[in-house]
Amino acid sequence: MHYSIPGLALLAGLTAAVDPVEVRGQDFVNSVSGDRFVVIGVDYQPGGQGAISADNDKDVLSDPEACTRDAALMQSLGVNTIRSYNVDPTLNHDECMSIFNGVGIYVILDVNTPVYGQHIDRSNPAGTYTRGYMEHVFTVIEAFKGYPNLLGFFGGNEIINDLETADENPPYMRAVQRDMKDYIAAHADRPIPVGYSAADVREFTEDTFNYLACDNGDSSASDFFGLNSYSWCGSESSFQTAEYDVLVEMFSNASIPVFFSEYGCNDPSPRVFDEVEALYSPQMTVMSGGLVYEWSQEDNNYGLVDISTDGSLRLRADYDSLQKQYSRINVTLLEASNDTATGIPAPRCSSNLIQADDFSDEFDIPSRPSGVDALISSGLSSAPTGALVSVTATAVALPVYDTNSASMSDLAITVTSEANHPVGTASRTSSGSGSATASGAATTETGGAHRLSGAVALALGAAAFAAL
Ligand SMILES: *[C@@H]1O[C@H](CO)[C@@H](O)[C@H](O)[C@H]1NC(C)=O
Ligand SMILES: *[C@@H]1O[C@H](CO)[C@@H](O)[C@H](O)[C@H]1NC(C)=O
Ligand SMILES: *[C@@H]1O[C@H](CO)[C@@H](O)[C@H](O)[C@H]1NC(C)=O
Repeated sequence: MHYSIPGLALLAGLTAAVDPVEVRGQDFVNSVSGDRFVVIGVDYQPGGQGAISADNDKDVLSDPEACTRDAALMQSLGVNTIRSYNVDPTLNHDECMSIFNGVGIYVILDVNTPVYGQHIDRSNPAGTYTRGYMEHVFTVIEAFKGYPNLLGFFGGNEIINDLETADENPPYMRAVQRDMKDYIAAHADRPIPVGYSAADVREFTEDTFNYLACDNGDSSASDFFGLNSYSWCGSESSFQTAEYDVLVEMFSNASIPVFFSEYGCNDPSPRVFDEVEALYSPQMTVMSGGLVYEWSQEDNNYGLVDISTDGSLRLRADYDSLQKQYSRINVTLLEASNDTATGIPAPRCSSNLIQADDFSDEFDIPSRPSGVDALISSGLSSAPTGALVSVTATAVALPVYDTNSASMSDLAITVTSEANHPVGTASRTSSGSGSATASGAATTETGGAHRLSGAVALALGAAAFAAL
């Protein structure tokens, strides 16, 4: 719950909140200013999928020291969004969510985990769409619904990964989205978007999109569509050879935002990220940006940084080259509102939207498992609900080294109240490495295009009240 109290804005302990982002037609939009919001992001799951398990008391958004370290580096990198794949909703995420809010970074969160009973099993959707599963999902919603920098929830990730799984699963994906959206409508104070993250398999990418985005006369449609796409590999690729032109055509009339929920082919290594220029160019404004896979180096070799078990971090060359690419992004272009894009209505669901023979064209969505109606009407009264707290520790306590192994000892976050954006996108000239990353203070306001948010949030129960 946020209270606007401008008269108290000078008191210490107040937490500035970013403006929530909402969906309007094809675009994400800042709900206060009306500016378009385009995702400039990274996928964030240090420790990989295995980082969460039944016998673990941590997840990626529950360790404030690690979050401060990563938020400071992401602020300099120019990121405005992270995606985290699995969280434990019983842990406290207030500090990490407040740290990312404080540097102007939004969070898109998957509601599922690899633990059985906490996801739809694509080989048995009917048997895993249960009351227990939905209770887990609603617990995640309760834990995160109170944070203004929560951009949205992924209800599913790559559940359909071949035509075999495309027959039975699609109606269940819509069923889960319906239940999430009904729960949010009843128990959150804003319409938090719910979407799906799809494997980019061109024989059914368009079917997946059409199936999930169409209007079925109920609440089961996706609010946004993420695509995991690795088609652009190094300097040999181009808009045409990576088939980005195909995507632009495919999504030209999309009625919901479409973005890369993962991108960044890791051949060559280190990566050069030439696709960044294309993705944020005037040619591709139909897309709402993307999330680079991924922040930390794990077994599959996609990291921007190396994180050791002692919490120290070393930048990889990929971080520097991504920062250099980001610094060329035209933020003015991306923030322009577009009445055509925000006004595109969804087509009615119908079997003629679906092309592949094996893809479900059944729009009779499964009814809720027994007991889920009651959970939605009464809400989970005992589930913990997070809220912003004031961020007082801005210095990075963990050791961080740049790509030349020099210690970045002055690293700190700079607290702001508006979306982060790349350094050098307005008046600044890019340095690519060294000084731009050597201090957290390098990232401040660039240019006058960014209005200050009027939203000031007081975190209930936080130090702010004690100070009064
Ligand atoms: C998009 O919509 C316009 C206007 O309705 C139509 O002319 C065009 O064919 C559509 N494009 C696609 C790819 O569906
Ligand atoms: C950035 O985009 C705006 C809006 O389209 C345009 O007017 C401006 O010329 C662009 N700036 C550069 C450096 O391309
Ligand atoms: C506005 O959105 C429409 C629909 O995506 C697109 O065709 C058009 O190019 C956009 N205009 C600008 C200036 O980006």
